[in-house]
Amino acid sequence: MKRIGILTGGGDAPGLNAVIRAAVRTASNVYDCQTLGIRDGYDGFLDPKNGVIPLDVDAVRGILARGGTILGAANRGNPYARKVIRDGKEITIDVSDEIVRGINEQGLDALLVLGGDGTLHIAHELSLKGVPVIGVPKTIDNDIGGTEITFGFDTALNIATEALDRLQTTAESHHRAMVVELMGRDAGFITLNAGVSGGADVILIPEIPFKFESVMKKIHERAAKGRKFSLLAVSEGAKPEGGAQVFSRQGDEVYVPRLGGIGQRVAEYIERQGFESRVTVLGHVQRGGTPTAFDRWLATRYGAAAVRLAAEGGFDRMVALERGEITSLPLEEALSVPKRVDVNGDAVVTARNIGISFGDE
Ligand code: F6P
Repeated sequence: MKRIGILTGGGDAPGLNAVIRAAVRTASNVYDCQTLGIRDGYDGFLDPKNGVIPLDVDAVRGILARGGTILGAANRGNPYARKVIRDGKEITIDVSDEIVRGINEQGLDALLVLGGDGTLHIAHELSLKGVPVIGVPKTIDNDIGGTEITFGFDTALNIATEALDRLQTTAESHHRAMVVELMGRDAGFITLNAGVSGGADVILIPEIPFKFESVMKKIHERAAKGRKFSLLAVSEGAKPEGGAQVFSRQGDEVYVPRLGGIGQRVAEYIERQGFESRVTVLGHVQRGGTPTAFDRWLATRYGAAAVRLAAEGGFDRMVALERGEITSLPLEEALSVPKRVDVNGDAVVTARNIGISFGDE
C-alpha cells in the first residue's frame, strides 16, 4: 500500500478531523504510506489541481479537537446526479466515470470515504466500478445500520442536553412550555437520548407519530400537580398521526427539501390551548464545534481501523463498532437497513417508565 485517499462527504459531524488525523498517522507510521486529502467530497477528483492535496503528519497536527472538516464537504456532491448549468438551465448529469478516472489517475490503493448514508451509498456504487473504497460511518443522527454508533452523535447529544438543561430553568421561572426542536431527519436518537438526559416531559420522534391532544394532556397533568412548566424535546422529523413531516423549504430543482417547523407547530398548538409556550430551534449548533472526548476516541479508532482494513484489502466494507470493539462489514449490508429507534426497546420503555410522554397515549 503506497498511497491512499481520504474524503469527507455529506453534512459535517464533530470528529471528522480526528478520523483524518488518525488515518494519516497510521498510514505513515505503520505502512509508510502517503495520504492524499480530497477536497469537498467526491468533487475534488473533478479538479485535481486544487481538489487533491498531500496530507502528511505535519498537515494534520492540531486538528484532533477541531470541529468540521479540514477537507471541506459537499452536501450536493452526488457524482451520479451532479447539478450543472447548461445554456442557462440547471440539469442533472452523471459524472461517476469522470470521478473513477480521477481516482485512477491519482494511483490510489484505497479511498477512505467518511460519510453518512448518501455518501456511503455512492462509495458502494463506485466500488462496483472497481474503486477500492473503505467506508467510515459519520452522522450526528446515528442512523447508519451495522454499527452501534457513529461519531458526531455523542457531541450533538451533549449539546442538545445542555440546551434542555438551560431551557428547564427559564421554563420553570415563567411557567411556560418550552419546546426545543432538535436534529434527526428520520431517526430520533438525539431527541430521545437528550430528552431523557435533559429531563424532558415530552419527547416527539419520527418513529412514533404523535397526537397534539396527548401532548397537551401531559402538560395539563403536570400543571394539575403544581408543575406549571413543561419541557418538550421534538425531532425536526417528528410528525402527527396521519400527518406529514414539516419542511421549512420544499425541494425543487435547486434545493433539497429542508426539514423545520414542527417545533413551532407544537408550540402554537399549546398556546392556542391557553398555555404560554416558546420554541428554540437548535439547528446546526448541534453539528459544530469541539467533539466530545468520546467522539475523538471513537473517530480515532475508526480512522486507524480503516487504514488497517485497507492494508488487508477489505474493500467495499465499512468499519463499525460492535459490543465496544471495532469490526467491519460489507457496505451493502450496513446500508441495507437504516438504523431507527426501536419503539419497543429498552430506551423508549425506560423513558415511559419514568413518566415521559411520546405524545401517543
Ligand atoms: O443528517 C444530518 C443532519 O444534520 C440532519 O439531522 C439534518 O436534517 C440535516 O443534516 C441538515 O442538513 P443541512 O446541513 O444540509 O441543512
